[in-house]
Amino acid sequence: MLLRTDRISLRYGDGDTLTYAVRSISIEVPATGFFGIMGPSGSGKSSLLYLMSGLKQPTEGSVYYDNRCISTMTNRDLAMLRRNEFGFVFQQPFLLNYLTARENMLTAVNQQSGANTAADEIMSKLSILQLAERAPAHLSGGEKQRIAVARAMINRPRVIFADEPTAALDRTNGLAVMELLKSYRDEGLIIVVTHDEAMLAGADNIYHMEDGQLHHIARPAA
Ligand SMILES: Nc1ncnc2c1ncn2[C@@H]1O[C@H](COP(=O)(O)OP(=O)(O)OP(=O)(O)O)[C@@H](O)[C@H]1O
Ligand SMILES: [Mg+2]
Repeated sequence: MLLRTDRISLRYGDGDTLTYAVRSISIEVPATGFFGIMGPSGSGKSSLLYLMSGLKQPTEGSVYYDNRCISTMTNRDLAMLRRNEFGFVFQQPFLLNYLTARENMLTAVNQQSGANTAADEIMSKLSILQLAERAPAHLSGGEKQRIAVARAMINRPRVIFADEPTAALDRTNGLAVMELLKSYRDEGLIIVVTHDEAMLAGADNIYHMEDGQLHHIARPAA
C-alpha cells in the first residue's frame, strides 16, 4: 500500500470547544487507482484529505507514505515530498491572472529543464493545448479548472489529492474535469473528496465519512 493511516485523529480546541474533525481513522490505499471520499458537510472529508497529504499533521496517530512516517518528518522534508510527489486540486483553480494558462502550469514545476515540453504534453493529453496562451480572464470556469488539473500533473506526481474539484462547476464540466483526473489512474493514485456521488462513477472504492469517522466503505461496480 502506498498510503496508509494508523488511527489518525484531528482535534480542534479543548474543554467545551473540543471538536474532532477526524476520529481514529485507519485507511490504506494502493499506488494506483481512483478513490473517493464522500460525506455530508462538516463530516471531516477535507480534514482527512489534508492529513493524508501532509498539509496538516494529526493530533493522534500516524500517516505512512511509501513506508515513511510523514507525521514525524521535518517540515523541509515534508515540503519536498509534497512538491515532488503530490499534486493538489481544490474547489477554486487559483490561477494567476497575469500569466497565461501554460505559465500558470509552470509555476508548479520542480525541475525547469524540459518543463515547457512537459506542460504541452500534458495539455495535449488532456485535449486543452488550445488554451495554453490564454489568460485566465479569457477562460471559462471549467477551462480554468482543467488548467488546474494539468498543473497538478506537471511533476508527474505519484498521488493527486483533490478537494471538491467540481463543486464550482455545472454537471457537464464537473464530469469532464473528473475524466481528466481519472485519466491518471493507471499512472498514480487519485483521491477525490466530493459531496456529489455522481462524480465518483467508476471509482475503485468510495469511503463514506460521518462525524469524523469512516462510516462504511462502498465498492461500486466498475
Ligand atoms: N480550524 C478549525 N477550527 C475548529 N474547527 C474546525 C476547523 N477546521 C475544521 N473544523 C471542524 O472540523 C469538522 C470537519 O471539517 P471539514 O472541513 O474537514 O469538513 P468537510 O467534510 O470537508 O465539510 P465541507 O463538505 O463543508 O467541506 C467540522 O465540524 C469543522 O467545523
Ligand atoms: Mg471540505
